[in-house]
Amino acid sequence: MYTIALIPGDGIGKEVVPAAARVLEATGLPLHFVELEAGWETFQRTGNALPPETVEALRGCHSALFGAVSSPSHRVHGYSSPIVALRKILDLYANLRPLISAPLSSAPLSSAPLSSAPVPGSRTGVDMLVVRENTECLYVKQERLEDGGDRAIAERVITRRASERIARMGFALAQKRQKAKVEGKTGLVTVVHKANVLSLTDGLFREAALAVAGEFPGVAVEEQLVDSMAYRMILEPQRYDVVVAPNLYGDILSDAGAALVGGLGLVPSANVGDSFVLVEPVHGSAPDIAGQGVANPIATIRAAGLLLAHLGENGTAQRIEHAVQSVLADGPRTKDLGGSAGTEDVTREVIRRFRDLEI
Ligand code: NAI
Ligand code: MG
Repeated sequence: MYTIALIPGDGIGKEVVPAAARVLEATGLPLHFVELEAGWETFQRTGNALPPETVEALRGCHSALFGAVSSPSHRVHGYSSPIVALRKILDLYANLRPLISAPLSSAPLSSAPLSSAPVPGSRTGVDMLVVRENTECLYVKQERLEDGGDRAIAERVITRRASERIARMGFALAQKRQKAKVEGKTGLVTVVHKANVLSLTDGLFREAALAVAGEFPGVAVEEQLVDSMAYRMILEPQRYDVVVAPNLYGDILSDAGAALVGGLGLVPSANVGDSFVLVEPVHGSAPDIAGQGVANPIATIRAAGLLLAHLGENGTAQRIEHAVQSVLADGPRTKDLGGSAGTEDVTREVIRRFRDLEI
């Protein structure tokens, strides 16, 4: 029996998490769900965005499916993002974001008026995994003001330990994926940095990651400066396999990557530690469409698939991905993909196709 925490959070999190939980239920695996609270609404009601009961209950689970939380764009006394805190509390040191081509044309699917959001298409042949360090870099949030507020300073922390363990995870995943074939090796890890300018911090990240490469002689390794990485990733995303990056670069590259493969409504991520996995869609709480039943559930359904893969249920995880790909190809599609279906229509169809794939 797997105990899985469901943390819907705010906005469309309350719509897409129940949708993905239904897909999980339909797998027939022995799952036990525990629903927990966190987020802006929880903060407004209780004064705490991450109540101690939630943290306590999470310690009794294997894994969690997180929706999204709303964060105010101004500073609110006592509020801090629960997802950032959870990554720290549960030591979820790796953020994995698979970017896989979706069967969507790159042209808009409907004659949407110019004022509406663009419908993202998808590049073909993309299958890459961004492995982002999730605990340090600029995200240690050591900021201060000087000079009467006219000078702002942020501290950036890179350690050998965190760099080695994220690199080790990247190489191990490349070995497992068996994707790129380069010079007689299987699997390619691209180490991203900016060590030509930040020779101490990025220099340490680079040195630690390249040292780990020696433990994986069968996997190819290359390095790429982050700015040229952004350029090449857009030009030829198909050439990449596993991309290992410090926190901030990984965050930015993986959002850019989402735009290459169908947009925010489709892309999941997993926050992984040695003994816990917390999965989530990449998107936020989307207050502009919350409560209307039109949110695309696919990113969260895919996140549920990542969760199962991390629990070792690879066959079921693959079946979920096949069902998703099949629904993306023929519809129904939600509005963000140019369609007119609701969250419920898409969820029901994913479940139906998942069952059809049963042998
Ligand atoms: P967002 O991702 O919530 O929305 C951006 C745009 O994409 C909106 O137009 C939204 O309608 C659309 N969109 C997002 N997910 C969608 C889905 N599943 N189906 C259809 N359309 C979708 O980002 P935004 O607007 O910058 O932030 C809104 C709130 O979410 C803020 O309070 C922000 O702090 C929070 N947020 C939370 C995150 C998290 O919990 N991990 C991540 C990003 C933002
Ligand atoms: Mg981000």
